Formats: sequence, C-alpha cells, structure tokens
Amino acid sequence: MASASDSSPPVAPVGEPRDRVDGRAKVTGRVVYAAEAPVRNAVHAVLVSSTIARGEITAMDAASVERSPGVLAVLTPKNMPKLEYVDAKFHAEKRLPLGDLRIYYAGQHIAVVVADTLERALYASTLLRVSYREEPPVLGLGDPAAKIEWPKGEMTGPLQFEKGDVDAALSGTGVVTVKQTYSTPIETHNPMEMSATVAYWENGKLTVWDSTQAVVNRQKALAAVFGLKPDQVRVLCPFVGGAFGCKGDQWPHTFLAAAAAQAVGKPVKLMLTRQQMFTGCGHRPVTEQTITLGADGQGRLVALRHESKSDDSEVGKHIEPCGAGSSAIMYATPNLAYTHRVSRTNIASATFMRAPGENPGTYALESAMDELAIALKMDPVELRLVNYADRAPHNGLPFSTSNVKECYRLGAEKFGWSRRNPEPGSMRAPDGARVGWGMATATYPAHRFPNQARIRLMLDRDGGVRAIGAAATQDLGTGAYTVFTQMTAMLVGLPFERVKFELGDSNLPPGGVSGGSATTAGVGQAMSEAAGKLRQAMLKRAQENSGSPLAGLTPDQVVFQGGRIVAANDPSRGVELSAVLKGGPAYIEGLNEANPAGADNLPAKQKAYTFQSFGAHFVEVAVDERLPIVRVKRVVSVMDVGRVINPKTAGSQVQGAVIMGMGQALLEETHYDPRTGRVVNDNLADYVVCVNPDVRSIETYFVGEPDLLFNAIGCRGVGEIGITGIAAAIANAVYHATGRRVRDLPITAEKLMRPA
Ligand code: MOS
Repeated sequence: MASASDSSPPVAPVGEPRDRVDGRAKVTGRVVYAAEAPVRNAVHAVLVSSTIARGEITAMDAASVERSPGVLAVLTPKNMPKLEYVDAKFHAEKRLPLGDLRIYYAGQHIAVVVADTLERALYASTLLRVSYREEPPVLGLGDPAAKIEWPKGEMTGPLQFEKGDVDAALSGTGVVTVKQTYSTPIETHNPMEMSATVAYWENGKLTVWDSTQAVVNRQKALAAVFGLKPDQVRVLCPFVGGAFGCKGDQWPHTFLAAAAAQAVGKPVKLMLTRQQMFTGCGHRPVTEQTITLGADGQGRLVALRHESKSDDSEVGKHIEPCGAGSSAIMYATPNLAYTHRVSRTNIASATFMRAPGENPGTYALESAMDELAIALKMDPVELRLVNYADRAPHNGLPFSTSNVKECYRLGAEKFGWSRRNPEPGSMRAPDGARVGWGMATATYPAHRFPNQARIRLMLDRDGGVRAIGAAATQDLGTGAYTVFTQMTAMLVGLPFERVKFELGDSNLPPGGVSGGSATTAGVGQAMSEAAGKLRQAMLKRAQENSGSPLAGLTPDQVVFQGGRIVAANDPSRGVELSAVLKGGPAYIEGLNEANPAGADNLPAKQKAYTFQSFGAHFVEVAVDERLPIVRVKRVVSVMDVGRVINPKTAGSQVQGAVIMGMGQALLEETHYDPRTGRVVNDNLADYVVCVNPDVRSIETYFVGEPDLLFNAIGCRGVGEIGITGIAAAIANAVYHATGRRVRDLPITAEKLMRPA
C-alpha cells in the first residue's frame, strides 16, 4: 500500500506510521476477547430462537429441557425476571427480551437454556417445545401490509427536507434530467468475533465482559435495567474482533446473560452463534432510492431530489438516512429535496452498519451523477468539480475545512484518469476482458461524543519517566490503542516506547460509543484537555522547589518537550520531568472535566461550521465477456479526514472499508425465505464477503489539513468514510466496461447477463 509521503503537496500533516501496539499479541493469540474472559467456573447459556416471523407464542413446554443432564436453568417469557425498560437511548430495540409472548421476527430470542457445559446446554435447548399462533409475515419494502412511517430525524438532521422548488427547476428549459431508482439489499456485518457476554454477580454487583463498541453505555443500560447504580456494574472489553456497528447499541443477549447469571448464581458465558449474528445484533436494512437530477448545459445542478426508503422491525429503532447522509451535503444546488420513509416488516431489527445512510446514499447519488455525466457527455470528475460545494447545501454553513478538489486531483493523477477513453466498452485488458474505469466521491460527517481521559506520569524503575493514558473507550480492531499511545506520547513529549494506553473498562474515565467514526476525535479532545491538566499539576509541583526555573510561569506558558517541562517561549528554561516526579507521589495525573454537553453540542464558534470529511475513489474493474464476473483490479482512494495520527492504521481503515465496499458492490446480500421470513444464508459459506484473492491493489492517500475548529487534535475520524462511494465507483466502472448499468446491488454475473 502506498503512503502519503510520496504524494505532492499539500498533504495532511501526518504522524508516524506506527505498527499496532497490540499486533504481536493478536497474531500470536495472546489477547483476550469477551468469550475468553478469565472467569472461573463459568457455565454456558444457549439462546433459543423463534422459528416463525410473526405471531404469538401460545404454549411452551420446558419440562424435558429441565430434566436434561447438566441443565441449571431455563428462562422463558413465563419466568423471566421483570426488568425495567429505561434509558431507551442505549437500547437497540424498543423492548426487553422475553418480555412478552409476541413474535416480531424470525430469530427472536424466546428462551435461554443454561447448563454446565456448552454441549449439554445446546442439546437441552433442542428439547424445548413451542407452539405458535402464526400470522403471515410482512416482508420487503413493497409489501402492502407494511406500516409506513415518515420519521423527522434527530441526530441525522432533518429527514424530510426541501429548499427552493425542485419541480419547477426540473421543468426549466434546457435542463438535462436523470431519474433512476437504485436498491441495496439487507447486508449483515459479520465481524470475525461473534457477540459474546460473560456475566457474574458478586455481593450484588454485576461484572460483564462484553464484546461491545461502548463499555460505558453498556454499564448505564445494565444498571438501569437491573435497577442498580452505575458503580454497581462494571463492563470490560479490552479487545473486539470487529464490529462495524453491530456491537454499538445494546442488544438483548447481554441482558439475558446477566439475568441467567443471576438465576443460577454462577458466571454465565453466552456467545451468539454465527446464525444468531444474522438476527440478534442488527444489519443494514434494505434500501430503495429514487434520485432525480437536473443540470444546465454546463453541468451545474439546478435541482436534486433524493427519495429513500428503508425497513425495520416493529421493535427496531433504526433509520437508514440515505439522502441526509449524501444529497444533503455533497453538491451545490439551489433546489434540493430529500425524504425518507420506513416500512415496518417482520425482519429482525436493523442497526447502523459502517456509514449508515451515507453508504447506500452515496451508492445511489454517485451512480446517478455518473449517469448525468454520460447524459451531458462530461467527464465524471469535471461534473463533480463544477458542482463543488464550499458550504453544506442543507444548512448553508461553510465546511470547517474541505479539500475534496485535492482528493479528485491527486486521485486522478495517481490512477492515471487522463488516459481514460470515455466510450463504454472501449478499453480491454491484454487477456481480452473488458476494462472499466469509474470514480465516485466519498463523504462522512465528523462526530465526537463526550469523553473524559486521564494521563499519568510516573517514575519508572530505571529512573526514566513513563506515561499511561487511559479512557473508557474501545478498540474495535481499528488501531485505537496505537493511535492513543501515539497521542499520549505527543501530548507529554515522551518517546512512544515509554507510553502505554488503557481502554475497554467502564472503571476508566467515561467515554462514548466507538461509532460514528468519533473515537479519535472525541477521546483526542479529552486527551488534549487532560494533558493541559497534567501540565498544570506538574508545573505546580515544579514550582514548589525554590529557585525553580519555571517560577512565575502559568500553565499556558509551559509545554512538555523531550522529557522536560519547559517555558514555551524559551525551551532552555525548564526541568526534567523525572526531577519533578522524584520523591513525590506514585504518579501525577491530569484528568479533563466531564463535558456532558459533548460534541454534538459544540461551542458557539463551532456552530458556525459544518464538519464533514470528503474523499474520492478511482476504480478499475475487469469483466470477462463470456462469464461476466466483475474483478476489482485497482483502487486509488484519497481521503481528507483532517489530521492523521497514524497513516498506517488510518490507511488500513480506508483499505478495509474499500474491501467491505467491494463486497457490498459485488457479493453481499442477506436472503430471506419469502414464505417464512427466515434467513436462508446465515453462514459465511453462503453469505459471501471479499476474501484475499478478491483483493488486488488498493492505494490510499490522505490530503488536507488539521481541522482545529473541530477539536484540539484536528482529526475528524476515518473508520467509515472509506466505504462511502466505493460501490458507486465500482458500478460506474462496470458500466464503463460493459455499457450495462446495474442499479440493484450486488452486481452479480446473473444481473450482467440478464436481457437489457
Ligand atoms: Mo459505526 S456503523 O457508526 O458503529
């Protein structure tokens, strides 16, 4: 993979491309995931799932389960302890598990069997007899029985929006229009590590090892539901084997593990099976989007309408805000409208999956922009440059920084875009395969959640100084441990090797969900404030020495530098950190103040801006003429995400997102049996994702500048943006190769062979 260092200026100021601090431990199997929690005498819980998609449980006979060898408890809606549904904002569903007899979707948990071994629990779970009163399930966006809702939108900004007069503008003379409908199927996250919980109670306190994107939110939700104080619940999650959104909200299995542990008075281990991962922790809902574009002769958009639909279960809370995530923000146009409707179906509850809204939204909009470029006989990059927005179209606020033009320029240069023959089907590979080149814009908003963090300085046994940073945040496999180790080192002016970072424990200074690509920015801001507090504490202690070279200076006038604390305007004036620490307490600490307002409530100065990242993907595909399987040969992705702390882990985030987007474009689809509503391909043999042989060259570059209006570190986060736009870039390349436009993902060989 290429790095940013060889690209032409201006490049984003980037930190060092460090290897992961946990890399060696991970590849040698020495890290501990939730299901491997070092808890003695744990017994095993197995979930029983509904086999019908809609109806009601009329009878349950657990007698033979209870008699089965090793069985310790069976929880059903009949004997489930009453839990309180409070603090709704943390819950993925609008109900608690086993709370009633209603069936909302196939795969819904209807019982938990606890036994001394996993095998005995599994066997006993097959003995549960369940009778249902079955109703025909509502399936799909087009089902006339589906209840329709038009949500207003909260965190996403408005979901029903119009400015100007789209219809009038579209009917203007000389306006070139494109109107098409694009659809995406249900996609399932499928992280390597299945969701798992190990729970135990001790003296009325609950400890939970949970594979999660939010230890503190889990702590709050468990405390509320079980009627405990937050400090009676501890949630631990040192490592996560991938998440992509499916471990972001609170799913029912965690409550069931805790309730089972309470029922049997022993630690209980519960891990979803791969099959249960398709119904028990969300998926990206199906979407259908109609885009209408109108442009003048120069390609300037005079109107843009984006109508989108998604589905969710009756008890789900997810909206996939396609238009709000893409058309609201990407191109300047005087007339703009977007709408979103949700159909209630009997498919398991949906949730956010890597760039929820932005991802399907950019697939549709960026496909339509390609169709518009063709209608106008314009280069697709040129069309986007003509419609560059220097402020967010939906709210009129300028972007804090935006370097999308540089993303196009550098991407086109690295890819060799100028050598493209725009004629579809005109380019061939040496083996005769049709070659297509396509591009698309990527975009994702900048979020940060309220966080606290602390940094401690202490003397090491060797007499040197050591720093430990800590925050109750999470590393989903993204590189957070590494990035925050680097950040701590940078903030206290110590070498990387002398710094450690701790996370994944709700006992640490509290933080938010590792979702919305918010972790680096949010925790980074907290770390920067914590370093300020540490500077204050260290200065105070240094000044206790009479004749201190720092006498009379205020915390704002000193900095950490090279193992010393020095006057900012005269680094020769200062003291060694080791000298300040010597003879003092075990450590000196900086902890930032809680900021409950948090970031999506930014200070007034920041309310004057829109914080948004942009990027560009350039893709080459090859399509064999006889059996039109699409191969992605080459991807060049250029991102502007503000400051990049670690170009290696950040590049890896973009690369991984591109690979996930390739799977979305070409392979991924969760299939449901239209009669029963049950998932047909709930395993990794039939739910196909990209694997190593599918992945050829992916180059990633970063451009731009630190976004210091957004936070003190200047970073906007990088977890999700890479998957936006990539499916469109591939679809556009497939059109360029074949002259065939596939508007329903995934782009399979069957679809390319169907009659035009
Ligand atoms: Mo990510 S889909 O915001 O957890």
